[in-house]
Amino acid sequence: MTTARIPGFYNLPLDERLEQLAKAAGLSLDELSALKSSNGLMDEQADHMIENVVGTFSLPLGIGLNFIVNGREVLVPMAIEEPSVVAGASFMAKLARAGGGFTVTTSAPEMIGQIQVLGVKDLITASMKLYEHKAELLAEADQVDPLLNKFGGGARDLEVRIIEDSPIGAFLVVHLIYDVRDAMGANAVNTACEKLAPHLEEITGGHVHLKILSNLADKRLAKAACTIQLKELGFQPEGQDNLSPYTGEQVRDGIIAAWAFAAADPYRAATHNKGIMNGVDAVVIATGNDWRAIEAGAHAYAAREGRYTSLSKWGKDEDGNLTGELEMPMAVGIVGGATKVHPTAKAALKLMGVRTAAELAGVIVSVGLAQNLAALRALATEGIQRGHMSLHARQVAIAAGAVGKQIEMVAAQMVAEKTVRIDRAEEILKKTK
Ligand code: MEV
Repeated sequence: MTTARIPGFYNLPLDERLEQLAKAAGLSLDELSALKSSNGLMDEQADHMIENVVGTFSLPLGIGLNFIVNGREVLVPMAIEEPSVVAGASFMAKLARAGGGFTVTTSAPEMIGQIQVLGVKDLITASMKLYEHKAELLAEADQVDPLLNKFGGGARDLEVRIIEDSPIGAFLVVHLIYDVRDAMGANAVNTACEKLAPHLEEITGGHVHLKILSNLADKRLAKAACTIQLKELGFQPEGQDNLSPYTGEQVRDGIIAAWAFAAADPYRAATHNKGIMNGVDAVVIATGNDWRAIEAGAHAYAAREGRYTSLSKWGKDEDGNLTGELEMPMAVGIVGGATKVHPTAKAALKLMGVRTAAELAGVIVSVGLAQNLAALRALATEGIQRGHMSLHARQVAIAAGAVGKQIEMVAAQMVAEKTVRIDRAEEILKKTK
């Protein structure tokens, strides 16, 4: 990878974009050809992935530009249907570059498997017995995946919990902590939990009911931080020269106040976190990972203190620069599952040049933080509609039947009139015919 900056990328024709991308990434066009939908997932391949296949479903794939993550330039593939997301992330990554980009830390790739044990007579004694047998239980769980062992993964710890308050009364839950290295890990963890079940029944005298991974992967966290220099924040609202420009201080304080709203109020936090997930999911999907797992983990983590709140934090440093932070569970893999079967996901991972699942997790949280910043900056200043308007207008123009050059023309007129509606698009189109 040479650079994640490709000035003028937006204005290039599609094929040229791919050429520029390959050049910037230091890859051949061939290596990236699966990013083109015509070379993506074929029906026959899809037929092996799920049941009752009749075809495939496409989403636009855009490239998040300008990202520097832990000092490394990264071009980020993003699969998403919503306008403004890719542009927003790229723009904020550009602002962050001046402050060194994104700094990322990740915990060990440890997943939690849950084993529910019912019918245990004495929960405290059974818990103690389980801890006494911990070493042999871990050794047993360790055997399920020799390949994972070879790469340094395997069973790490066992925790016993007593769930006191449930609709069926108290019961035991065993948590198996499993290092899954570069895999998402669901298969290894579920297999290990199933393997332990008979032994757990023997030790506790109860019977094992559920054996399944937890998506609240709070031992597999990724955290991104960035500093946006004050001078990067001020701007003149586009097309509104009569208004005075926003100062850096105004934008910074506006972003902090917007974050404070989400920190204090679940109604706002849901939308604020949705904005984060706009970026996160787009990369998770593009790399063939399980976005439902990531969504479940994110929102459960956001509610971990008993009240749903913001996943990110915004503040200022001693020099008055804006500082941002995002920490969330990030159970993504680069081996196994769709990441290795889906041709577009394979090309997407190649483009990013990530060598480990932790590196991928770091890029994803950086995109989440950038996306959050894009939304807060817009909301705290001009509002979200101005930026959305022109892309939305194009979609409405297409829906009204505009093709080729008509799309831009109809969209531009609707934006100028501040009326973006399908009936208006149809009227404008009729007049051009
Ligand atoms: C829209 O997809 C996302 C936003 O609503 C996020 C936010 O409000 O922070 C703009």
